[in-house]
Amino acid sequence: MAIAGDADIITDFIAPPNVTVDGKFFTFTGMRALIGAPAPTTLKVLKASMAEFPALNGQSVSYAVLLYPSGTVNPPHTHPRAAELLFLLSGTLEVGFVDTTNKLYVQTLQSGDMFVFPKGLVHYQYNAQSQYPAMAVSAFGSASAGTVSIPNNVFNTSIDDNILAKSFKTDVATIETIKAGLSGKV
Ligand code: GLV
Ligand code: MN
Repeated sequence: MAIAGDADIITDFIAPPNVTVDGKFFTFTGMRALIGAPAPTTLKVLKASMAEFPALNGQSVSYAVLLYPSGTVNPPHTHPRAAELLFLLSGTLEVGFVDTTNKLYVQTLQSGDMFVFPKGLVHYQYNAQSQYPAMAVSAFGSASAGTVSIPNNVFNTSIDDNILAKSFKTDVATIETIKAGLSGKV
């Protein structure tokens, strides 16, 4: 497949070789799985990015649908290649991001609200409600926004414990406790 990602393209669209290009090619049906499905018990993120939906190649857009059971958090993360525009469809949601001066911006969203997370900045969402789930759709200004999960990228890799202990001004035992808690879970 010709890979354009988010580069400007000089054709209307990019089709992978040996693929029939018709209406079906431009249709993503992966979200049908949501219709009538039982409510999840953990955070669920369904993506429609270039990986799942090849017709997005070269179009600089993608979506994610996010389901937050009560009490769940989408841990701090960044998208290196895109801003994110979140539209809260149901429930309420605490959201926040941190700018490059370390200033935190927070808001409690009501259903119908939109919130923009600027490109590349660390952000999170939290459904603080004790009973009600929340559901959101996020649009990204990239066909492949990428996600860098801070807990996962920092602690669920093989970065040396000593380096992490020095970086976080703590001891190796504490780092190992954090790693053990995250292992395979984020
Ligand atoms: C939410 O912030 C997401 O990136 O899916
Ligand atoms: Mn995000």
